[in-house]
Amino acid sequence: MASRGAFSNKLGFILAAAGSAVGLGNIWKFPFEVEAGGGAAFVMLYLVFCFVLCFPVMVTEIAIGRKTEKNAVGAFTDLGFKKWKVVGMLGILAGVVILSFYNVVAGWAFGYFIEMIQGNFDIGSNFGGFVSDIGKVGLYGIIFMLVTAYIVSRGVSGGIERAAKILMPTLIIMILGLVLYSFTLPNAMTGVKYYLVPDFSELNLRVIGGALRQAFFSLSLGMGALITYGSYLSKKENIVSSAAYITMFDVGIAFIAGLMMFPLVSYNSGGDMSNIQGGAGLIFVTLPQVFQSLGPVLGIVVGSFFFLLLSFAALTSTVSLLEVPVSYAVDEYGIKRNRAVIVTSIIIFVAGIPSMLGNGYSAFFSNFITYIGAESPTDFMTFFGHLADILLLLGGCLIVFFAAHIWKTKNLNAELSEGYPAYEGSFVQKFLDFTISYFCPVVLGVLFVLVVLSNFFGISLIN
Ligand code: TRP
Repeated sequence: MASRGAFSNKLGFILAAAGSAVGLGNIWKFPFEVEAGGGAAFVMLYLVFCFVLCFPVMVTEIAIGRKTEKNAVGAFTDLGFKKWKVVGMLGILAGVVILSFYNVVAGWAFGYFIEMIQGNFDIGSNFGGFVSDIGKVGLYGIIFMLVTAYIVSRGVSGGIERAAKILMPTLIIMILGLVLYSFTLPNAMTGVKYYLVPDFSELNLRVIGGALRQAFFSLSLGMGALITYGSYLSKKENIVSSAAYITMFDVGIAFIAGLMMFPLVSYNSGGDMSNIQGGAGLIFVTLPQVFQSLGPVLGIVVGSFFFLLLSFAALTSTVSLLEVPVSYAVDEYGIKRNRAVIVTSIIIFVAGIPSMLGNGYSAFFSNFITYIGAESPTDFMTFFGHLADILLLLGGCLIVFFAAHIWKTKNLNAELSEGYPAYEGSFVQKFLDFTISYFCPVVLGVLFVLVVLSNFFGISLIN
C-alpha cells in the first residue's frame, strides 16, 4: 500500500494544526466578540473555555487519529465500532458545508487584496456591490479553491506542512508589523482601551454561549479535522503538549488581531468609538476607509498587507477543511490523492455557489429560508453557517463521549502516554479524564440543544 503521508516533526504538525485553527474566525469575529462581550472580562472567560472545554476535545481528536492512522470516518471503524462511523460522516458533511461558504469569504479577502494593490479604497463603501458581482466573486472563489486544492494535492509533508511552514511565520510577522504600526497612530490607545476595558456586567448567558461556540469553531474542533491531522503525527510526539501549543497559538493570534484592529479604527474616527460596526462590516467596509486615510502610498502598503494576511490565515484553514474529505476518499475508496482532490474540490465549489449568489445577486438565495417564528428570511450563507454550528457541537459532543465511554478512557490514556511516558497518574491525566468523560460531553450536548432552538426556532433560552 502506498504511504498515506506524515508530518516530518512536531513543529510541522503544530504549525499545520495552528494554521487550521487560525483563520477568518480569529481576525474577523474574535475582536468584536471581545469588545461586545466585556473586553478583558471576555478574554479571561474565553481562555478558560479554551483550556477547560476545547483543549480536552482537541487532545481526544488527535489521539483517535494517531491511534488509528485513519481519516475521520475510518478511525471509528478501525477501533472496532462500525456504527460510530456516522460521527465521522457528520464530520465530512460539516467539512463540506463549512468549506463551501468559507471559501467564498476567503475569496472576498483575496479579492480585496487585489483591489487594495490597485489603490481602490472605494471598495469599502461598495461592499454590497462587490459581493453581488458574481463575476468577481466567482473568479476569486475559483482562484482560492485552486490554490487550496494545489496545496492539498501535494500531500501532507510536501503540501500541507510546507505551506504552513511558510505561511504561519509570515502571518506572525505581518500581524506584529501591523500592530506596531497601528500603535504609532494618533488615538491608538483609545482603541486599545475600548477593546479591552473589562466590564463584567456584559457577561450574560448569551455572551457566554457565544464565547463557547467561538472558541470551539476557532480551534477547528468537532468535525474530525484534527483526527485527520493527528493520523499523520508520529508516535514519538507528545499529543498533550502539542494540543496546548496549538490552543495558545490560536488564542494568541486572535487576541493580537484586536490589538491591530482597534487602534486603526480609533485613528480613523478620531478617537470616537461610538459608531463602530462589527464583523463583516468592519473588515470589509470600514477598514478600506481607514487605509485610505493613511494616504495613497501607505494606504496601499498597509491595506494590501492586511488583506494578504487575512487571505493567508484563511488559506491554511481551507487546506485543513479540504483534507478531511480528501483523506476519507483516499483511505476508504483507495482513490489517488490527486483525483480525490479534484473530485472533492469540485463538489465543494459547486456547493458554494448558492452562498456566492445569496449576497444580493439572486433574490432566491438571498432570502433563502424563513425560520419558524422569524420575521425576516435568512440568506443561504448564514443558513449554512448555522447548520455548521450545530454539526460541530453535535460532532464534538459525540467524539468525546465515544472516546471516554465506548472506546474507553484506558485506551485513550494508553495512546496519550505514547510520547508522554509520565502521563498516567499525572495531574493532567486526572483533569483530562474528568473533562473528556463528563464535563465536555454534557456542556457540548446542552449547547447543541440550545443552539438548535435559538438558530432555527427563534427560541432563545439564554439571553
Ligand atoms: N478555525 C478556522 C477559523 O477560525 C475555521 C476552520 C478551519 C474550521 N478548519 C475547521 C472550523 C474545521 C471547524 C472545523 O477560521
